[in-house]
Amino acid sequence: MAITEPEETIIKEIEEQRPPFPAGLLSRKEKDKLIERGIRGLYRWYTTRSQESRNWHPDSLNWRALRTDHSPEVNTVIEGFYAIEHYAPDYTIKLTQMMRKSYGRSHFQLRWGSEEEKHADMWRNTLLFLRFRTPEWIDDYMHFLSEGEWQPPWDDPLRMAIYVVIQERATQLNYLNLALIAAGESDKPGFTNSTDPVLVEVAQTIALDEAAHYNFFLEVARLFLYYYPAQTLEALVDVIGNFAMPAQDFHPDMDRFAEALYQGAIYGPRQYTRDVLKMTLKNLSVTSRKALDRGIKQSRRVPDLDGNMVDTAIFDTLDYGSLETAVKRLFDRVKTYEEKIGLDEIDPVHFVPSGLATNPQKT
Ligand SMILES: [Fe+2]
Ligand SMILES: [Fe+2]
Repeated sequence: MAITEPEETIIKEIEEQRPPFPAGLLSRKEKDKLIERGIRGLYRWYTTRSQESRNWHPDSLNWRALRTDHSPEVNTVIEGFYAIEHYAPDYTIKLTQMMRKSYGRSHFQLRWGSEEEKHADMWRNTLLFLRFRTPEWIDDYMHFLSEGEWQPPWDDPLRMAIYVVIQERATQLNYLNLALIAAGESDKPGFTNSTDPVLVEVAQTIALDEAAHYNFFLEVARLFLYYYPAQTLEALVDVIGNFAMPAQDFHPDMDRFAEALYQGAIYGPRQYTRDVLKMTLKNLSVTSRKALDRGIKQSRRVPDLDGNMVDTAIFDTLDYGSLETAVKRLFDRVKTYEEKIGLDEIDPVHFVPSGLATNPQKT
């Protein structure tokens, strides 16, 4: 039997019924489910790891061996670090509230809060044992700080998902640089001859927590970036353009603190650009800061209801292949973890490609 040409009207009908995006793309509901499933698995993996490897207590250090003759600059830096960690309850309450619709993100914030609370205790012990200030002064300082109430810089969970990645990396860098000073490796005026093994332990112990926080939030941000690249890149540009470390407004002498950080080469515009932003963008598979700005300018189109607006400008900005590899790796990690428990027999986790890598829509 001869194959006849389909009628023109049928072709037209098929054309009209074709979905507005290429086959293989996921609905918003499917993407949200995958993101949440990934985060929930990662959260459980994280809590096991943190209990096993970072279960320290701020009172268990050899505090009596802390030096009591540090320079005013070193003391200023430590007072400032304490101020930031002092707001652990505010951070925890507000972020848990904001993320309450995500089991993985909200429950993680509670565990994260319990780790941040230890940082406040650790710096408070440091302040006391430095003997640079009296306990009364430290009490007054705490009360002064408590007059301020931290508010999240963004009120949407997507922008906060990005903010915390940058903030955790910046915090980790601050502490690592203080650890170097306490290891006697600084030649900056006010920071030389600061060798203090206990202070090294303090700064390194907290920095390890901050690294773990950074890695958790980085995986969350990658999930959003992978499944919602256009919206997440736009959020990234917003957050980068307005980034500041938390609780700066509440410090009684922020200028002196910022100056000490700058003088000690601990944290300033140079460290932010080179050691925070560049590294974070690389880990998010963003090709460069310039490409990011360019990509955003070129892609002001509104995504469809499923958030599936993707144009070629975004693929110039993102190394989408490496981002997909990273997201796959996360799902593999969760899968391996859950297999050990037996959860794979009940609620197996599956990576599902976004479909965007092979189906970029042309503008
Ligand atoms: Fe912290
Ligand atoms: Fe942290």
